[in-house]
Amino acid sequence: MSKSVTPYKDSDLGKKEQVAQMFDNISGNYDGLNRVISFGIDVKWRKKVLKMVSDKNPETILDIATGTGDLAILMTKTNAKKIIGLDISAGMLFCFPEK
Ligand SMILES: C[S@@+](CC[C@H](N)C(=O)[O-])C[C@H]1O[C@@H](n2cnc3c(N)ncnc32)[C@H](O)[C@@H]1O
Repeated sequence: MSKSVTPYKDSDLGKKEQVAQMFDNISGNYDGLNRVISFGIDVKWRKKVLKMVSDKNPETILDIATGTGDLAILMTKTNAKKIIGLDISAGMLFCFPEK
């Protein structure tokens, strides 16, 4: 029997809503936390992805679970005509203080 793992133990919300709520709650600190917790590796992998995507020269890029949009923003360095970022958390999407 599998047990559902959710961010909040005592919440009545479904898992998807809890995940959105959790990222809404941390959105203001997400970018800074990401740099620290990953020791900056997040910056390096994004640069690798930029190179990989650029080599394919796509017209359109879809970044699913884009969060605060770091990768989607970096993708503006490609020749893509259309870049779409989507995320379940409005807080993540609309929290870009230093960008
Ligand atoms: C760890 S963050 C990664 C964000 C971004 N891709 C990055 O590299 O910084 C995971 C993201 O996935 C989003 N997410 C989780 N479940 C999702 C779903 N079902 N549909 C869309 N986004 C989702 C969260 O809201 C969160 O912004």
